[in-house]
Amino acid sequence: MRNFECVDNELVIGGVKATEIVKRYGSPVYVTDENAVRNNYHRIYQAFSKRMPTRINYACKSNTNLAVLRILEQEGSCIDAVSIGEIEACLRSGFSPDRILYTGVNVSNAELKAVVSKGVPINIDSFSELERLSKITTNHTISFRVNPEVGSGHHDKVITGKRSTKFGIPKHQIIDAYKRAVELGFKPSGIHAHIGSGGQKVEPFIELIDELIKIVQELETIGIDLRFIDIGGGIGIPYRLDEVEMDLDKMAEEITSRIKSKTKVKEIIIEPGRYIIADSTILLATVVDIKETPDKMYAGIDAGFNTLIRPAMYDSYHHVAVANKFGDKAEETYSLGGPICETGDVMAKDRELPKVEEGDIIAVYDAGAYGFTMASNYNMRPLPREVLVKDGEVTLIRESETIEELFRHQRIPSRLML
Ligand code: LLP
Repeated sequence: MRNFECVDNELVIGGVKATEIVKRYGSPVYVTDENAVRNNYHRIYQAFSKRMPTRINYACKSNTNLAVLRILEQEGSCIDAVSIGEIEACLRSGFSPDRILYTGVNVSNAELKAVVSKGVPINIDSFSELERLSKITTNHTISFRVNPEVGSGHHDKVITGKRSTKFGIPKHQIIDAYKRAVELGFKPSGIHAHIGSGGQKVEPFIELIDELIKIVQELETIGIDLRFIDIGGGIGIPYRLDEVEMDLDKMAEEITSRIKSKTKVKEIIIEPGRYIIADSTILLATVVDIKETPDKMYAGIDAGFNTLIRPAMYDSYHHVAVANKFGDKAEETYSLGGPICETGDVMAKDRELPKVEEGDIIAVYDAGAYGFTMASNYNMRPLPREVLVKDGEVTLIRESETIEELFRHQRIPSRLML
């Protein structure tokens, strides 16, 4: 979680007061600080690259805004993409196909064909996908995702690497998958696994690398030498004030030293999404209503789980602050309810805040990852704006939807016409 600057008792991001942003662009609005994205990228790249050749495949599912992708393209990042839509976003942002790795799950033949036609390497998730791909082409760069039977994450719903999840080739079949790929004429270039998302411990990554190394060594004994090991993403961030950041340096040291001493692998790939983008962005919302129930004070805001679903979906904690009373002492306990007609639509529960009034601006922290990308039109509410801030300047990077646009894909059969 970031420490924001406080000027005239107001929260400042990227040199701009939050209140000015809302005055100009309305709310709710996602605000991304360009310098923070660049710094986060460098922090993770450097931790690993000073130890061995490293490729960062930014997991763009966390945030696919084209401006964010442009920034990361300029930094030299590569991409983890999961759909043809994400691939298209990255190609439009200047990434060449060889800087993208497609890791889909339950991939259709239509999507396989589309990915092949874009020339994007494919990280294969199942035997079925391998056989179906071979019918389209065998002249394509591939690797395999294995289910490592090691899982970690901030919530059960985002732990992917445990035995019997839907992801990856089961561990006991992985050697056969490589053998079959070679038999079909492919030259597999690497191995991949993803334990899950948002864990804060180094140990599961070490367990993971030990599993992957065992597989790589077995492959090396049968003449299949891999160029890269991809340890997936999942590096957590401290969402709470009292949490400490994971020891990235320790993680990098433990992992790269093992790879270098035990395998012929030349490159490590990491797929961070959250680590790069989460704390670069705040969501600004306006307090529209105050309600005192018999045992709770609600401040009603104009952003709900249609805008940021993480609290409702995973009970995730996002720190909140009153942006226009940033230096004020906490006085009362509030829950921040959104405009969605479900009881679960509460952005933050029981938080100590300065006295909150209608018109105040609430900053929801660490909203850059899985924020806008998981937003929806539920309750027929248009998607919000996104802006980019850098050194005192604000630029609109996504216009909000209009009410009119909500109807653009609907058709009324002529027999039902007014
Ligand atoms: N690689 C693969 C194969 C993944 O499935 C994911 C995330 C990542 C990398 C990036 O994980 P990260 O570094 O961002 O933790 N909506 C959830 C998170 C779902 C993550 C899905 N896969 C949330 O809001 O916490």
